[in-house]
Formats: sequence, C-alpha cells, structure tokens
Amino acid sequence: MITARAHTNIALVKYWGKKDQNLILPQTDSLSLTLNEFYADTSVEFRDDLAADHIEIDDRVVTGHAANKVINFLNIIRKMSGEKRYANVISTNHVPVSAGLASSASAFAALATAASKAAGLDLNRRDLSRLARQGSGSATRSIYGGLVEWHRGTDDLTSFAEPIMEKVDFGIEMIALLLNTSKKKVSSRQGMQSSVETSPYYPAWHKVVAHDMLAMKRAISNQDIDQIGHIAEENALRMHALTLSADPGYTYFNGETIRAIQAINDLRSQGISCYYTMDAGPNVKVIYNRKNRSKIIDYLGKLFGQEKLIVSKPGPGVKIINK
Ligand code: PMV
Repeated sequence: MITARAHTNIALVKYWGKKDQNLILPQTDSLSLTLNEFYADTSVEFRDDLAADHIEIDDRVVTGHAANKVINFLNIIRKMSGEKRYANVISTNHVPVSAGLASSASAFAALATAASKAAGLDLNRRDLSRLARQGSGSATRSIYGGLVEWHRGTDDLTSFAEPIMEKVDFGIEMIALLLNTSKKKVSSRQGMQSSVETSPYYPAWHKVVAHDMLAMKRAISNQDIDQIGHIAEENALRMHALTLSADPGYTYFNGETIRAIQAINDLRSQGISCYYTMDAGPNVKVIYNRKNRSKIIDYLGKLFGQEKLIVSKPGPGVKIINK
C-alpha cells in the first residue's frame, strides 16, 4: 500500500476554461499558492482479490459519478503501467471539519502520486503533474509547494506545472473564510464550459490572463504582497464576471460573499492591506502580509465568527508518506 499526501492550492491567476475536455488542456496559463492547512492523504494498493475498484473517501464507500471519476483515472494509470488488477483506494481529507474546501486539487495530486507508484511507475514531478491534470485541472499545480505556474501547453506533453518559488517565506498568508460548506450547484466543469461557450467576454479573458501572469510573476520576484493581492483580486473578479455574463448567467457568490468583500474593502480603507479571491463557491480567501494577521482576524472574527476563519501558510508539494 502506497500513501501520498498532497496539499490544496488556491489560484492567484485563475484557470477558467478548457480547450480539450478529455485531456484537460486549459485555455490559459494559471498560477497558484499551495496551502499548508488543507491536504489529502490517499492510499492505493492494486490487489488480486478485487473484482472492481474499491474507493473510500473520508470513511465512506464512494459510488456513482464520484467513483467513476476515480475509476477513469485509475484506467489511465493501468494503461500507462500495464497493471491489470483493480485497486483499493482510501482517501482522507484533512480539512477542518466540513470546511467545504476538500478540493479536487489535493485529491487528484495525491491519487496520481500514490496510484502511479503502486502500479510500479516511477514518474518525475513533471510527469506527475501531467497525470494529475487528467483528474482535475487544478491538481496539475498541487504536485508542487509554494508558488506554482501551470503552462497551458498545446497537448498532453506540454501542459504541466512548474514551481516558481517552492519555499515561500516572505510573509504571504491566506485566511479561508468559510461562509458556506454545502456542495456547489454548478460544478467547475459545467461552469467553465458555459463561460467558454456563451460569455461574450471570454475572448477578453485570454488577454487578462496573459497580462496578469506577467504582472504576477514580477510581483512575486519583488516579493510585493500588495501587488500580488491586488492582481489576484482583480483576476478573481474578472473570472467571476465570466459566470455572470454566461447564458444563462449565474454566480457562485452568495450574500455572505458580498458581505466579506465589503469587510475586506473596509479593512483596506482603515489602512490594513488585505485582498480577496473566490473560486467555484461562495467561500472567500483573504491574501495578506502576516504582520497584519491579528488585525484582520479581529475584524473578520467579529463580523463572521472566529470559528469561520482558518489561517494558512504556504504549503509543500506532494510526498509519499510511507514506504
Ligand atoms: O480543477 P477544477 O476543475 O476544480 O477547476 C478549478 C477552478 C478554480 O478553482 C475556480 C480556479 C483554479 O485555477 O483553481
């Protein structure tokens, strides 16, 4: 049995749209920060005595659509390795109780690493990143720690992630503000597809990302947290504009999301710099310099409750945690 641990990541320049649905080739590059507080541990063993893949996530046997996603992914690995047997897969998400952040990024990065090793493959990180990509786009980046760039590429070989800065110790942190932990109504797959096909703003998104990737990398090399936060916030708003402008239009925000945005703007107008980003759900992540942490926690804690706030530092890349 091989066990791998992978941490989730939050995009600072978002991936929102596929060019190839099967291979999961994205329309654009993207860039993320891997987080220390949220991770998945996944164990895989291929066994003679199984008549089908057996999948358990957080102590529950998984069937239906969720199981099929894992089985399809295991099929890719069986094809690559020549392994014929079925697998026993046991995965545990280490996210603070029902955080709603049990992301597919950490899940598929851990599964790719554990299952490929269990099937006898010895993949380097670039190939693990390409493999994880076929489970979930954002998993491409969770192979690495710290600040990571996913090159969109043009085919399976050229679409992979690479670290920009693996040890991130210039003070950037994130607070996850858990506003709603129920399952999202529009999956990221459906959401991004409708944006690509129906938003009249989608062509502009290509320009936005090309610009933001360059600006973000410059801000990272200057270790300029204000600039990183500012670009990430603007990029997130423009991504969410692609959902509002789709046909039919929709949003991942709820009333609490808007209240959090206002709270972060209020903090900024008090001279405490911090920025926000949101993904395919209502939860808000706050980007800030650790020197402002206690002021931000005080303010948001009063408005939303301390128990809704989870502070996270930059986290590491994927690791095999047993032998
Ligand atoms: O990897 P997916 O299919 O869950 O898509 C992730 C999409 C966003 O989280 C909204 C953006 C990103 O780059 O992670």
